[in-house]
Amino acid sequence: MATQWILFEMFQVLHEVPFYHVLLEGGLLVWILWLIFHKSYNPKELQQLTEKEKEQLIEEWTPEPLVGNVPQNHPSLKPHIVSGKAGKYMNVNGHQCLNMATHNYLGFVGNKDIEESAVKTVQKYGVGSCGPRGFYGTVDVHLDLEDKLAEFMKMEEAVVYSYGFCTIASAIPAYSKRGDVIFVDEDVNFAIQKGLDASRSKIRFFKHNDMADLERLLLEQAELDRRNPKKAQVTRRFLIVEGIYMNSGDICPLPELVELRKKYKLRIFIDENVSFGTLGDHGRGVTEYYNVPNDEVDVISCSMEWAMATIGGFCVGSSFVIEHQRLSGLGYSFSASLPPLLATAAIKALDIMQTDPSMFMKLQMCCQHVHRALSSLTLLTLKGHPDSPVKHLYLRDPPNCTDHELCLLNKIVDFCIEHGVAVVTAAYLPVEKFTRRNSIRVTVNNMLTEDEINNVAAVLEKACENLH
Ligand SMILES: *[C@@H]1O[C@H](CO)[C@@H](O)[C@H](O)[C@H]1NC(C)=O
Ligand SMILES: *[C@@H]1O[C@H](CO)[C@@H](O)[C@H](O)[C@H]1NC(C)=O
Repeated sequence: MATQWILFEMFQVLHEVPFYHVLLEGGLLVWILWLIFHKSYNPKELQQLTEKEKEQLIEEWTPEPLVGNVPQNHPSLKPHIVSGKAGKYMNVNGHQCLNMATHNYLGFVGNKDIEESAVKTVQKYGVGSCGPRGFYGTVDVHLDLEDKLAEFMKMEEAVVYSYGFCTIASAIPAYSKRGDVIFVDEDVNFAIQKGLDASRSKIRFFKHNDMADLERLLLEQAELDRRNPKKAQVTRRFLIVEGIYMNSGDICPLPELVELRKKYKLRIFIDENVSFGTLGDHGRGVTEYYNVPNDEVDVISCSMEWAMATIGGFCVGSSFVIEHQRLSGLGYSFSASLPPLLATAAIKALDIMQTDPSMFMKLQMCCQHVHRALSSLTLLTLKGHPDSPVKHLYLRDPPNCTDHELCLLNKIVDFCIEHGVAVVTAAYLPVEKFTRRNSIRVTVNNMLTEDEINNVAAVLEKACENLH
């Protein structure tokens, strides 16, 4: 009787409550039961292998090679080996060569004054700094160097990084985040490409130095912004270019870029790796070259590994902008600071640049002379701006296959090295965004004499004849 009554009551209750309640509670009940009774995961039970099984597994395992099949004639298998300093001359594979391959534009490698200041710093501070800038890694010479760099570039503030590659690769993601848009030249260097990846922003590539193509992309973006004004308000737009492009030797058309910056409210970053210390009457780079006021550029980033012949890099701009990197520039915050001896070497290099601006004039003459001499080669075409210290030589009629093209260029390079002129083929990583045409890269420094330059052209000409 009692059970019948209980069943009746239950039936009554079920009828009154809404159906989804019953479903929900039923689900909960099942889940609780499952939690109580299911077998928990126990890795030990799974690993009960007998000795024999173990032996068998080991026997069956064939490791994959760490490196895939490399062709015997791969250029990395026979690298050019440099012994000694790479100054005006260098020793490559045992041949004494005129150096037209490394980036020593102002001839500071091996400079006695710079070396002496570095040695003095080692005696005072030791070798390393042993900490990131924010964690006891700041030494007075770092602050000194930052002040001097800002003063030299006529900007408010500079921030020094301990490695050239991370400078721009950290600076980009410090400002540009997911949801922002970056307009960038197709020809940019690998370091910039890594910065773009790290920013996770929307990337729009425009054709190399093609302002019409850039404006087309900007108009597209303006149209998107018009349709979605709410999103447009929180989207930042960046424009990233190089002063002189490493991959082509061209100079960026800064005046036009600055016009577009104003018109479309962009923030412009310039990588001055090559142009710093080479362009302009005082070596201040592409802004001085075009006489563009500094406040029209937001951030200038630059490696100290080339013209300044030390290690590291820096960014300059207004304090408001640059300060931000001291907490958000990953390469700044999280890596040990520049060893003090390299900071004083940079200070000394800046001093020399300031006391004797005639060196920039001399470098320009050399660049133009090399340009004239290499333009007249019969089998190679020269690309790059006459004022640029980086120039590229391409085969005039290239074979169909790019591997074969590279092989021919390498033969020319080897011939040149054997005949006392060091040049290199430009190397790119397979993971880069765009494939580029194979070329021989020639760099210019301000110690070259007219005869030496003419000789370089003659050796290159002979190397090409030798191919046939
Ligand atoms: C700048 O120079 C550093 C070496 O100092 C190099 O690793 C980096 O790729 C260069 N970046 C650009 C954008 O040219
Ligand atoms: C060049 O290569 C393309 C595609 O690989 C091929 O179609 C063409 O026939 C080749 N031309 C010559 C002259 O070998």
